[in-house]
Amino acid sequence: MKIAFFDTKPYDKIWFEPMAKQEGFEIVFFEEKFNANTAVMSKGCDAVCIFVNDKADDKALEIIKELGIKGVLLRCAGFNNVDIKTAKKLDIPVLRVPSYSPRAVAEYALGLLLAVNRKIHRAYVRTRDFNYSINGLMGTDLSGKTIGIIGTGKIGQAFMSLIKGFDMEVLLYDPYPIKGIVDGDKDALIQFGTNVKYVDLDTLFCKADAISMHCPLTKDTYHIINRESINKMKKGVLLVNTSRGALIDTSDLIEGLRNDIFGGIGLDVYEEEDGVFFEDMSNVNIKDMDLLSLTSFRNVILTSHQAFFTKEAMSEIAKITIENAKSLETGSNLKNLVLE
Ligand code: NAI
Repeated sequence: MKIAFFDTKPYDKIWFEPMAKQEGFEIVFFEEKFNANTAVMSKGCDAVCIFVNDKADDKALEIIKELGIKGVLLRCAGFNNVDIKTAKKLDIPVLRVPSYSPRAVAEYALGLLLAVNRKIHRAYVRTRDFNYSINGLMGTDLSGKTIGIIGTGKIGQAFMSLIKGFDMEVLLYDPYPIKGIVDGDKDALIQFGTNVKYVDLDTLFCKADAISMHCPLTKDTYHIINRESINKMKKGVLLVNTSRGALIDTSDLIEGLRNDIFGGIGLDVYEEEDGVFFEDMSNVNIKDMDLLSLTSFRNVILTSHQAFFTKEAMSEIAKITIENAKSLETGSNLKNLVLE
C-alpha cells in the first residue's frame, strides 16, 4: 500500500515512517495540506492520510475517487473536516483514530485551567525580566467551586477523573449521559466522585465557575459558546477549550473579554486556526484581527492545537493509523470506520 501523507511535520515522519516500513507500506510525505487543490498530488497512491486542518470536502473527495484512492485515513479523532455524506456516496471509507490518549488532552486542559487561573503564564514572563512583583497575579482556590464539563466522552471522562482530586462540584452536560452517573451507581461514584451530576446546558452556564469543553464539533455544537451563553455565565468564569475552535463564536468571546466576564480563558483551538496553527508565523504579519485581539488579552492563553502532543499519543496515533491502513488494504475489520 502506498499512502499520500498530507500536512507533514518533522515529528510525523519520526513516528510514522518506521511503523509503515514494518508493514511494508510506502508513505509519500507532502508538506501541503489536503484540499480540492492538492488532492491530485495523491495520484498513484492507494490511500490519503490527513490531519485536523486538511479539508476533505466534496470536490477533494471526487478527485481522489477519480484517482482510484481506496480510502481516507484520519490521523486524529475528530472528523468534522471530512464530508462524510459525500464519502459514503462515493464509497470511500474514512477511518479515524477514535482514541489514542484521552489523558493527554485531559491533562493539557487541566494545565490550561490551572495556568489561567493562577496566571502562571504572566508570572513566567515577569520573572524572565527579573520582575518579581506578584501584583495582579491573584487567582482563586478551585476547591469548593463548581466546574462545568461539556461532553463526557473519553476525554471528558479522563478530565473528570483528574478533577476529582480538586474537591469541586462537577456539573456535566452531554445529550448521551453516562448511565452509571445518572443511576448513581457505586462504581461510577468511585470513578468520578460523589459531587458529579448532569444538568441542562443553561444551568451549567449559570452555575459554573469554570467550564471545560470536551464535545465534538457538530451542527448542534457549532458556536455553542456565543453571546447568549456568555451572558449567562458568572463574572470571572474560567473557560477552557481543547476540543474544536468553532465551538466558540470568537467575536462574541472577544466581546465577553472586553466586558470583563472572564477570569481567564485557555484555548488550544481556534475557529480560524487553519493555515496558522502548526506553522511558524513569527516572521509574518498576522492579518487575522480576532487572533491578534485574543493574543493581546492578558487573561488568555492561546496554544496551537497541542493538547494531543505527547510521546504516548503520537505512538498510538501512528500505530492505529497503520492498522487502519492494513484493514483498508484487506477490506476487512474496518473497526474505526466513521459511520455518521
Ligand atoms: P468522544 O466521542 O469520546 O466524546 C464526545 C462526547 O461529546 C460524547 O459523549 C458525545 O455524546 C458528546 N456530545 C455530542 N454532542 C454533544 C453536544 N451537543 N453537547 C455536549 N456533548 C455532546 O470524543 P473524545 O475522544 O472525548 O474527544 C472529544 C473532542 O476532543 C473531539 O471531538 C475532538 O474535537 C477534540 N480533540 C482535541 C484534541 C487536541 O489536541 N486539542 C485531540 C483529540 C480530540
